[in-house]
Amino acid sequence: MLSAAVASSDTATSGFLRACLQQTGLVNSVVDWTFSDRSEWSVRTGEPIPDVVLIGLSAGSEPCFTLAAQLRRLRPTVQIIASSPQKQLDPQLLLQAMRSGVQEFLPAPVNPTDLQKILSRFLQEREPGSPARVEKLILAMGSKGGVGTSTVILNLGVQLVRMTKKRVVLLDFARPFGHISLLLDLQPKFSLRDAVGNLDRMDGHFFSGLLTKHKTGLQILAGISQPDGWQRISAATLERVVNVAQSTYDFVLMDYGSVYSPEWSSTLCQARMILLVAEANVPSLWALERHMSMLLGLGCNPERIRVVINRWNREDEETLESVQKNFKQPIFARLPNDFRQVSEAINRGTPFFKNHHNPLVTQIQKLAGQLAGIAVPAPVQRNGLISLFSFRKTQ
Ligand SMILES: Nc1ncnc2c1ncn2[C@@H]1O[C@H](COP(=O)(O)OP(=O)(O)OP(=O)(O)O)[C@@H](O)[C@H]1O
Ligand SMILES: [Mg+2]
Repeated sequence: MLSAAVASSDTATSGFLRACLQQTGLVNSVVDWTFSDRSEWSVRTGEPIPDVVLIGLSAGSEPCFTLAAQLRRLRPTVQIIASSPQKQLDPQLLLQAMRSGVQEFLPAPVNPTDLQKILSRFLQEREPGSPARVEKLILAMGSKGGVGTSTVILNLGVQLVRMTKKRVVLLDFARPFGHISLLLDLQPKFSLRDAVGNLDRMDGHFFSGLLTKHKTGLQILAGISQPDGWQRISAATLERVVNVAQSTYDFVLMDYGSVYSPEWSSTLCQARMILLVAEANVPSLWALERHMSMLLGLGCNPERIRVVINRWNREDEETLESVQKNFKQPIFARLPNDFRQVSEAINRGTPFFKNHHNPLVTQIQKLAGQLAGIAVPAPVQRNGLISLFSFRKTQ
């Protein structure tokens, strides 16, 4: 991950360049240097120089080159990228820029994909073999519709906020419709549609303004609610939204639903974890197997795919034995069937609220603990019986 700064002569250009940097998913902080006067183009004494500086070349590039030379002097390893309208890019200007320490040129308006390529290369040269992106995305995908994907991921989000006190956002990417706001009785002003429709200004600040906050502290990017809402939304666009979310929040959760196609592989494969939610019945397990092969075929890391069995019953164990053998991995979580708790929560438009000694909530808490790396207390012994769900130390 890289620290970055944007330098330009006006706030509109700075804002756009900052959005481009955050959409690459490769920077964790962006400082704004807006110099409204030509004489201001320099770094204040003692100001830290980030890994990357993206300069918007304005008419009269002289001060920008002075800044580039100063940056290179102060931190010889800084990566300096300049962007300029195509018509200004004459050989003389390029030569002057290179001499002052600019390493890369991008025609304005900057294309985040080109910028991402430059930054990835830079990162690989600097730290070969290191993961290039922030890895905060935890994605829940249903083996089929109706297996409880939304219920699981939203309650996981609520528990993550409660246990970690960190900033947790849930992106509702389910197709054709996103139900999360409905399940939490929220009336969102904005949705995913506003995010993909405003990519030019889509930095962390703008993104946060599109979210709806639930009283538990969980932030939601509401899903699509129009039948044609998914038309014209490309996988690349969604990836840029995810990147901004990852550069702004501590945990990024996603309700992915159960519908996808191969062009989504980049989002899927960048997830820190894919929770494949299934029920222990024939159609769901049949589909689970197909999803697993599809994900592996798309290049997703098998270590990052985990099977979560929802609506679990003791009687399912025999069936699940063969699932574990097939997938060569243990079932990651067993979430008990609790129709009463779930339907009460849905009818009230709340997360699960019976938090004490409830096996379903206990299991969701344990799952949240595992994902956050927090040890969860062992289930309480009740009526002389030790709970079925034994405590395992989290990673
Ligand atoms: N652990 C559980 N115990 C009992 N019922 C459950 C459980 N989890 C979910 N359900 C029930 O399953 C139904 C579907 O849940 P949910 O909407 O979360 O599924 P989904 O996979 O997101 O569905 P869709 O494909 O429509 O988005 C709900 O009506 C809920 O009552
Ligand atoms: Mg759903």
